[in-house]
Amino acid sequence: MNRIILLGLVAILLIGKTVFANEGMWLPILLEKYTMEQMRQQGFKLTAEDLYSINQACLKDAVVGLVHLENPHHHFCTGEIVSTQGLLLTNHHCGYGAIQNHSTLENDYLTYGFWAMEKSEELPNEGLGVSFLKRMEDVTPQVLSQITGNTDEQTRDSLIDVHIAGIELAASENGTYLAKVKPFFAGNEYYLSVYKIYRDVRLVGAPPSAIGKFGGDTDNWMWPRHTGDFSMFRIYADKNNEPAGYSEENVPFTPAKVFDIAIDGVQKGDFTMVMGYPGTTTEYLPSMAVTMQKETINPGRIKIRTQSLNTLKTAMEKDPLVRIQYASKAAGIANSWKKWIGENKGLTRLDAVAKKQELEEGFMEWVNQSESRKKEYGLLLTEYAELYKFLAPYSLTHNYFFETIFESDVIDLAGKCTLLKQINKGTAPEKTGELKNNLMESVNVFFKDYHLKTDQKLFEDYISFFYYDIDKNFHPEILRLIDTDFKGDVNAFTQWIYSQSMIPYPDKLGPFISDYTPAKQKKLEKDPLVVLFSQSLQVYRTLINPIVTETQSKISKLHRLYMKGLREYQSNKIFYPDANSTFRVSFGQVDDYKPMDAVTYRYYTTLTGIMEKDNPGIYDYKVPEHLKRLYCNKDFGRYANPDGSMPVCFTASNHTTGGNSGSPVLNSRGQLIGINFDRNWEGTMSDLMYDPDMCRNIALDVRYILFIIDKYAGAGYLLDEMNLIKSKPSRELPVQIAQ
Ligand code: ARG
Ligand code: ASP
Repeated sequence: MNRIILLGLVAILLIGKTVFANEGMWLPILLEKYTMEQMRQQGFKLTAEDLYSINQACLKDAVVGLVHLENPHHHFCTGEIVSTQGLLLTNHHCGYGAIQNHSTLENDYLTYGFWAMEKSEELPNEGLGVSFLKRMEDVTPQVLSQITGNTDEQTRDSLIDVHIAGIELAASENGTYLAKVKPFFAGNEYYLSVYKIYRDVRLVGAPPSAIGKFGGDTDNWMWPRHTGDFSMFRIYADKNNEPAGYSEENVPFTPAKVFDIAIDGVQKGDFTMVMGYPGTTTEYLPSMAVTMQKETINPGRIKIRTQSLNTLKTAMEKDPLVRIQYASKAAGIANSWKKWIGENKGLTRLDAVAKKQELEEGFMEWVNQSESRKKEYGLLLTEYAELYKFLAPYSLTHNYFFETIFESDVIDLAGKCTLLKQINKGTAPEKTGELKNNLMESVNVFFKDYHLKTDQKLFEDYISFFYYDIDKNFHPEILRLIDTDFKGDVNAFTQWIYSQSMIPYPDKLGPFISDYTPAKQKKLEKDPLVVLFSQSLQVYRTLINPIVTETQSKISKLHRLYMKGLREYQSNKIFYPDANSTFRVSFGQVDDYKPMDAVTYRYYTTLTGIMEKDNPGIYDYKVPEHLKRLYCNKDFGRYANPDGSMPVCFTASNHTTGGNSGSPVLNSRGQLIGINFDRNWEGTMSDLMYDPDMCRNIALDVRYILFIIDKYAGAGYLLDEMNLIKSKPSRELPVQIAQ
């Protein structure tokens, strides 16, 4: 009997429920080997070659990672090509930075949306790029060559570094490609990814925030959802279709592959697949790590962010300018804050720690059955326990540094100003000029989105948390003043800092920078915010970071061993590697879920729900008049459901995480049916433990996108570039989920 069927049967016997647990983010080059059979059983109609091939154009060629060009290895979101002229779809929240950059009070594209009516109106975005995966390759043997069980860690690390450097250099073909080798399965395997990066990506369109961010942070991570979270870009290339920086000479990029768009809608049980760049998951951690995250790290971070969000909310409600200035910051803080809260709830509900402990007990039993295994793995869990116990307070302090002191905008600016110290007597005037100009530029950008009172209150929040929660041995010395000079009053300390420092005041800081000479170094170094920055950095660099790094590297070694052991122990199970910002395929089904007793959430939402949420008094729920008109007139064109309702979002059981935003959600024929943009609140613990009953990805129905472009924005000419398909694929029922 086939291994997968056998596994399925075992799963039914064990838990009596789902035949298909859709957990997993699979490597495209291993699909045939591991998952294709299961995908076909669930209704998938194509072949592994149709998804990933190095010999022919395939679906992966229509998927891009979105990158900031200064760090092209990190895909912050995913996007997909929908026209032969390089038109790209992604999320509104992925294009947010670009849309915000082009927005001014006169042309407020964030609020009112933006549509280029012809190509010449498309807006270039400096620093934004897209990466196409050319190929992936298992390079484990090359990376681990010369390494044996006896090689010590240091030698092992340096051999690996050397081997990786050689592989990347060869694969980059003199800089034509970006080549990156990354560890998988905690360093038991290594894969090379080769990318081609296009550097001229222009904004084509975005709906108003009242559609693209509808429901704001309140609805974020939640179902039922009604956010029209999409934006459009176009990739440009030189006349040979090769990457080039922005130039008027550039022409629309001609892609190797384009997604067809299916507009016949989705139904429960339909096969779905998500392709893209999930960022980070840690599914194979031992119980002690989950405990540390759940009991120590998350509560600290949640507490700090709850307070700063309150501060920001109060300030933003009072002043519309502050709302604009701090919108992006607040959204960023709120996003992870909310995720961590959901994650902790989910871990508790799943009893994740106990489940991990159970696994560990079974593992140890298996280990103890053999002398050689005892020798290899016998001490693993004891060592884990010791290391995590030791690490917890350092890790908490590390997190506090980044959630408080280094999160403060003025402290960060103070840090930037210390660059002035590079100017000394011997510095050439041009170098001095360049450094000052660059610094002045960041200072100007900084003060555009700066509100003194809000910043000062945030500073006070941050310092309080650090002062009260963190061991005094790790305090930067200047915090002692709180006791010695301010009787423990953090507010008084804060006022003193803001009265003594020049950093928060553009009229003081600007002239100081432009007139800076080495003679002013003393003044710079005495500024209390500069002192706070430098001392904090010093403490962090000497007392925290080295210990965290060293302990983490010991833990990494254990992870490698544990991963190897787990795969031997559960030799029937097919393991998928944790997400690491490399290309992955997840598959599942369009599906509803039961969030709590007596409640079932339907798998799709409609425009009716938007009208129900309409509340002109609340910023995030103000429905645009034009959308209301379209709703009243039922002017949905060819995008409506058969029952006449207008679809907005749907849920499915694809395993996704941060970075998968903007990913194409595809049907059994590889046609685009939606764009992924979020997960449900009850499923956010999937980064640590996946629950097939509860974990759902949230996608924007592609028909809502088309409706907004066509009927709302009147930019229907863009649809002419796309290939809309209305032939319903024959609905051979996928094997049903046995309940
Ligand atoms: N939760 C989604 C993700 O992690 C969307 C975040 C953007 N939306 C927001 N309201 N902050 O990226
Ligand atoms: N919203 C996330 C993103 O931006 C997706 C997720 O975490 O599910 O990538």
